[in-house]
Amino acid sequence: MVEKKGVFICIEGLDGSGKTTQAKILAQKLKETINVLYTSEPSKGLIGNYIRKSYLYSKKRLSPFVEALLFAADRIEHLESEIIPALNEGTTVICDRYVFSSLAYQGASGTSLDWIQTINNAILYPDLAIFIDVEPEKSMCRLNSKKSLMENLETQIKVRKIYLKFVEDSQLTIINGNNSKTKVSEDLFSIIKKYLN
Ligand code: TYD
Repeated sequence: MVEKKGVFICIEGLDGSGKTTQAKILAQKLKETINVLYTSEPSKGLIGNYIRKSYLYSKKRLSPFVEALLFAADRIEHLESEIIPALNEGTTVICDRYVFSSLAYQGASGTSLDWIQTINNAILYPDLAIFIDVEPEKSMCRLNSKKSLMENLETQIKVRKIYLKFVEDSQLTIINGNNSKTKVSEDLFSIIKKYLN
């Protein structure tokens, strides 16, 4: 049951886009005035842990359907155990990756976006969803040697294309992630401030 007194924000972007750094800076800044929970997907729960530890850095990708179902199941568990309780208490939640990651990444491997939406039908939609946009070539350069199964240029180009589709539909608010770290965090903060006010 969602009474939802807090604001639910998600931050999306390619691997190496700086979204985790930016989401954490944002959480830190907001904490000066309000209660904030920083969290991420895959989550720290049972299914999220399975995805991270047993799958993301293995040799071969699962079928995109199985991938999408795993991420959707993790999302529901994450919502029930962490996100909804925090929102109900009036805490602002910043989630590093959410449903748009499933649409972009599993969509990029050929799964229909409609089906991904269907299996994510039961989720709570964020109040604000931000996409930190960087050129795939740039994001790939920023990644270190420990790359997950999704982190190759061809995949990142496809993933970005889908993210940009949601920007066009106004479901995602875009920020230019090619700018300096300070400028990106200022841009992010000003969008969030505007929304919270
Ligand atoms: P990432 O943000 O890189 O996590 P971390 O840096 O903490 O390991 O996310 C891990 C990968 O999971 C990333 O390549 C995108 C992928 N992913 C999906 O494919 N679908 C999803 O629904 C989510 C949440 C992530």
